Amino acid sequence: MAGGSVVVVYTTIASVAPEYPAITMKLSHLTTRIMHPQQVAEVSPQLRALLQLADPHWDLISIYLFRSDLLLLEQNGIPVACLVLQDLGDREYEIKNIAVRADLQGNGLGSRLLREAIRRATAAGARTLLIRTGNSSIGQLYLYQKTGFRIRQIDTDFFIRNYPEPIWENGIRCRDRITLTMDL
Ligand code: ACO
Repeated sequence: MAGGSVVVVYTTIASVAPEYPAITMKLSHLTTRIMHPQQVAEVSPQLRALLQLADPHWDLISIYLFRSDLLLLEQNGIPVACLVLQDLGDREYEIKNIAVRADLQGNGLGSRLLREAIRRATAAGARTLLIRTGNSSIGQLYLYQKTGFRIRQIDTDFFIRNYPEPIWENGIRCRDRITLTMDL
């Protein structure tokens, strides 16, 4: 990475997802605090597609990505799942983005990434871990609460105010931004 140091750690997740023994877990700590266009260009098309599964707005992703930790699951060198963890300061961390490639969803990889993010935020001394989603993301709300997050705040009409096109999911209009937190 130009302009910053990168520490890469590999750990196997075969015991968690034995049906995918070829997947390894790669934890990249991106310490660069300033985004350069050159760095955005270094994000592979596969990683970009993954990140945009959770958040279609590349302009926003490219800002928070290079101020965050990137947890990446790779299969044969290709990213198949990712989680972006940002230090907000004051011992608060936020999961900005979590995504699993569509054909691998429902195999526990998202849960595995969430648990790893909790572990890393706790180890870094965080008091609170935060994650945000929309009112229409029923499966995500289920997963986050099952993992231990509690609903703390509802920003009514956030998606109507901030997104030009209506978003529909599960037959529900996405209107409100829901913030969930976990005390660590
Ligand atoms: N709909 C219904 N159920 C779901 C969904 C969903 N969209 N996602 C997860 N679940 C349930 C699973 O059925 C499973 O239930 P169980 O434990 O009772 O069997 C449980 O949640 C755990 O599922 P995992 O297999 O660990 O989750 P997965 O690997 O599929 O990853 C994720 C979940 C990341 C949400 C994935 O479905 C995905 O990439 N979705 C598209 C992108 C997205 O919406 N990302 C989140 C946006 S919000 C943000 O990024 C902060």
